[in-house]
Amino acid sequence: MEVVITPDYEEMSKFAAGMIARQVKDKPGAVLGLATGSTPLGVYRELIRMHGEEGLDFSKLITFNLDEYLGLPPAHPQSYHYFMWENLFKHVNIDPGNVYIPGGITADVEEFCRWYEAEINKAGGIDLQLLGIGGDGHIAFNEPGSSLGSRTRVKTLVLQTIKDNSRFFEREEDIPRFAVTMGVGTILEAKKILLIAGGEKKALVCADFIEGPVTSQVTASALQLHRQVTVVLDEAAASRLKRKEYYNWIRDNKHLVRKYLGS
Ligand code: GLP
Repeated sequence: MEVVITPDYEEMSKFAAGMIARQVKDKPGAVLGLATGSTPLGVYRELIRMHGEEGLDFSKLITFNLDEYLGLPPAHPQSYHYFMWENLFKHVNIDPGNVYIPGGITADVEEFCRWYEAEINKAGGIDLQLLGIGGDGHIAFNEPGSSLGSRTRVKTLVLQTIKDNSRFFEREEDIPRFAVTMGVGTILEAKKILLIAGGEKKALVCADFIEGPVTSQVTASALQLHRQVTVVLDEAAASRLKRKEYYNWIRDNKHLVRKYLGS
């Protein structure tokens, strides 16, 4: 895992957006895995800016979102469909036919999950997967205890997640209790993974998943098993890391490594 510590949310977002933009320029028909939540908003703002000012081209991209609340129609303002269109897709030149987001309302949800996995494979697999992290260490909606080999499926949300999400819903009874989510196993098959986290509220969970044991109790820790993961944190989210100096040392000496490797 490469851990990149940036001074603040703005820099974290720019760094992550830069990685995504590089992927898009290297392979215009790339398959991107996308995330929701408040953390990626800065990344999406920066990508929209790059599209407008630098001509970053989304026209051939294929995107797969991680998850969706079960029971919310795409037009619901709290659905992840709505979030993605409002905060990214409607501002760039993406082909709507290339956008995949799990369905919150489907006649046969198990069949839908199988179809979603098959579509990811048909597209050639995910080149770069963007992730945030939940307060309990979940990635997508893989709550503590999720199998580290899990695939796209319905997951029951834990109380903390329901509480974390309550700020977005007016009435408690409207907060979804279930989600359709890519599994940890699905996420681990992405060729590259980019996880972003900001703020002091994420500091403990970041120390757990980066420096703690691999455990289904903190599903983000499964990323330790992946060969190409970049974690981008702001100072606050990095504040509980024990090996912070080492991560910064690696960053500061990267140019030397490049020199030795001739890359
Ligand atoms: C939800 C999403 C996750 C996201 C998490 C954190 O649980 N399913 O994909 O990482 O929220 O959200 P935030 O970035 O708002 O802290």
